[in-house]
Amino acid sequence: MIDQRLGHPHLGLGVGLRTVHFNHILEQRPQVDWFEIISENFMDSRGRPRYVLEQIAERYPIVMHGVSLSIGSTDPLNFEYLRKLKALAHDVKPLWISDHVCWTGVAGRNTHDLLPMPLTEESLKHVVERIRVLQDFLERPFVFENPSTYVGFTGSTMSEWEFISRMAADANCGLLLDVNNVYVSSVNHDFDPEEYIRSVPHERVVQFHLAGHTNRQTHLIDTHDSEVIDPVWKLYRLAHQLTGGVSTLLEWDSSIPPFPVVHAEVLKARKHIGDDLADHAMTAVPAFGENEPSDDQAVTEASCAVPNPLHHMAADVQ
Ligand SMILES: [Fe+2]
Repeated sequence: MIDQRLGHPHLGLGVGLRTVHFNHILEQRPQVDWFEIISENFMDSRGRPRYVLEQIAERYPIVMHGVSLSIGSTDPLNFEYLRKLKALAHDVKPLWISDHVCWTGVAGRNTHDLLPMPLTEESLKHVVERIRVLQDFLERPFVFENPSTYVGFTGSTMSEWEFISRMAADANCGLLLDVNNVYVSSVNHDFDPEEYIRSVPHERVVQFHLAGHTNRQTHLIDTHDSEVIDPVWKLYRLAHQLTGGVSTLLEWDSSIPPFPVVHAEVLKARKHIGDDLADHAMTAVPAFGENEPSDDQAVTEASCAVPNPLHHMAADVQ
């Protein structure tokens, strides 16, 4: 028997922190329950991005979410990356750290894609061993997200929900259930998304992701560039019922609208699951400090943004 959500708190309704919203957040101090950062956007940064993050982390709960761990690769774990990740976590003090059940490259080459795992006993054993090493190194449990996928391995011998359920139990890690990813993959691979949601170990689900996607008629692409569609909200309601409710985060990474629009999108969750999340909202957000560091650096979106790994995958499947 494990603690629900591995003992992590239910943070409420959060938003992915994006560079284009930095000024709005600093100036307007929106009543957001929590933020998720992309770890790689801050690991090598020492200028304004880190200053802004420090300001935000003083006022809001922060969770770290990565895109380049590559836990499924057969390359050795990248300890240079892990040392940077651990150092960032030391500074930011996130409530938890997550990445994806995937591989991003092999033989030292990075594809910048979140590539699907072969769903086999051999690859399950491989990934479980690596998660154990990862968690020992970071000295904390890790949280893994189900990816959106467009292709699979003919040699796979189990469903993705069986793979991640056994992985979570054997490695004793948490799960980030991306409800939109479940829906996207269910259409692309023709499986029942409700069976997926019903089958994962609900006590290990620490967090949900929600996002919009693009319908290319023959397949769906996880573009994070629009509103959440009704079938995904329906799955979210089911996931909420089965887990008892967990921290929920909206991802919007392309054609990003003004912050209030993004925030309003995640707040739609309230009408789908009732008002029980309202209790988690922060009641007061203190003022931000006035002084910025003298070594302030100009920030461009390009300098902070992680390229959408799905662009490459999308080209392959069109
Ligand atoms: Fe996600």
